[in-house]
Amino acid sequence: MSTAEELDDVMEEVEYTWPDLEVDVDEDGIARLAVSRPDALNALNAEVVGQIREAIEELAMDDAVSAIVLTGSGDKAFVAGADIAEMADYDPLDARAFSHFGQDMLSAIEACPKVVIAMIQGYALGGGLELALACHLRVASTTAKLGLPEVGLGLIPGFGGTQRLSRIAGPAVAREWILTGEQFSAEEAWRVGVVNRVVEPDALWSETRGLAIKVASRGPVAVQAALETIRRGLEVGQSEGESLEADAFGMMFSTRDMKEGVQAFLEKRKPEFEGR
Ligand code: CAA
Repeated sequence: MSTAEELDDVMEEVEYTWPDLEVDVDEDGIARLAVSRPDALNALNAEVVGQIREAIEELAMDDAVSAIVLTGSGDKAFVAGADIAEMADYDPLDARAFSHFGQDMLSAIEACPKVVIAMIQGYALGGGLELALACHLRVASTTAKLGLPEVGLGLIPGFGGTQRLSRIAGPAVAREWILTGEQFSAEEAWRVGVVNRVVEPDALWSETRGLAIKVASRGPVAVQAALETIRRGLEVGQSEGESLEADAFGMMFSTRDMKEGVQAFLEKRKPEFEGR
């Protein structure tokens, strides 16, 4: 048996059982990963941060998964932040390590080769909003309340919020959100570019799933290359970013998917991508 076949066998046996996560994969390969800490509005303690990281890494490797929807369990909260009770006893070194631990988990989401979409209902505050900001796309229910309230606790955002919000919505919006600590509506978050779409609560899953299916229907190698080029491009200057883009664009011409996509266009039919 080849190593690839052995790996496939192992992956088929994978059962997704993390104590504070709900994970299921539907027939279209859309994985729903929900943080589930009902007693704490899904707040992120160190334990659940580690579980999310493991889950993302396993879903990224699972051939049965084509896109990931990240959410919170229940209607009231996406995630209400880092776990304040757990942080209360931290000393500065604990807090610094926790910040790095959270940042690394969020970087793993951002670097995931499959699209990760945050589906936001209710509160997405502090570390909860930071979790959503690390996802590639965000769909919010009209019930969502988003914000970075850390300054009200005498803290600052510690899971990348000071950096990602500035990059996503610009420094003026980031300063207003971080310095006031206010909660903002889904509509306002959409107006300033923090979320991609806002929908009524009963349409939240179908809209988010539809978006996931649309991305999953495109050439998987191209989707992965686009995600990576955008992510890495945000960390370098324009000319270096364009160089990354040209390299990735060139690499696409070595894929079977590119040949199939172009051929299908010329033959006026739908492409059948292999992810190769
Ligand atoms: N950490 C730990 N527990 C939390 C929590 C959090 N972030 N958010 C809510 N909870 C708990 C509450 O303590 C409460 O527990 P009990 O029932 O045992 O008292 C339970 O969840 C329900 O919450 P509330 O009773 O407060 O619900 P509410 O409807 O009155 O208020 C809320 C909802 C406005 C979201 C309020 O819970 C709240 O303000 N939560 C904290 C939000 C926050 O400040 N987040 C930032 C955390 S710091 C951070 O995230 C740092 C970072 O960047 C890494």
